[in-house]
Amino acid sequence: MAARWLSSMTTGVAELDRQHQQLIDQLSRLSDAMTEGRGLTQLPQTLEFLANYVQTHFADEEAAMAKYRCPAAEDNHLAHQQFTSRLADLRAVVAAHGAMPEVLAQTFRELTDWLVDHIWGIDTKLKDAVA
Ligand SMILES: [Fe+2]
Repeated sequence: MAARWLSSMTTGVAELDRQHQQLIDQLSRLSDAMTEGRGLTQLPQTLEFLANYVQTHFADEEAAMAKYRCPAAEDNHLAHQQFTSRLADLRAVVAAHGAMPEVLAQTFRELTDWLVDHIWGIDTKLKDAVA
């Protein structure tokens, strides 16, 4: 089941919220592709997009947390490092073995869970710092 961006996910910074919507939209596209039987073709493209997009997004978000002296800044940075490393591992698996059904379902679930948990657990803490 694909995630949706909800107003309760706001960070208080419109550009960051827009970027989060882009990330969620990519996972939603992967979900649609899986429903339509194109998931294995879509997975490498999704991973590629995410690997590129999070570089800018994480940098922008960390800069905002530094600017507003958000107390979650360090936790956010560490979580971003872990996610970047995990994405690299997933891309390496797909590059070495191709997209496989068992990898597809697990990857979709893991990325969606991480993103939603991360936004709610850490990124939304920016909102109080901005206010
Ligand atoms: Fe974050």
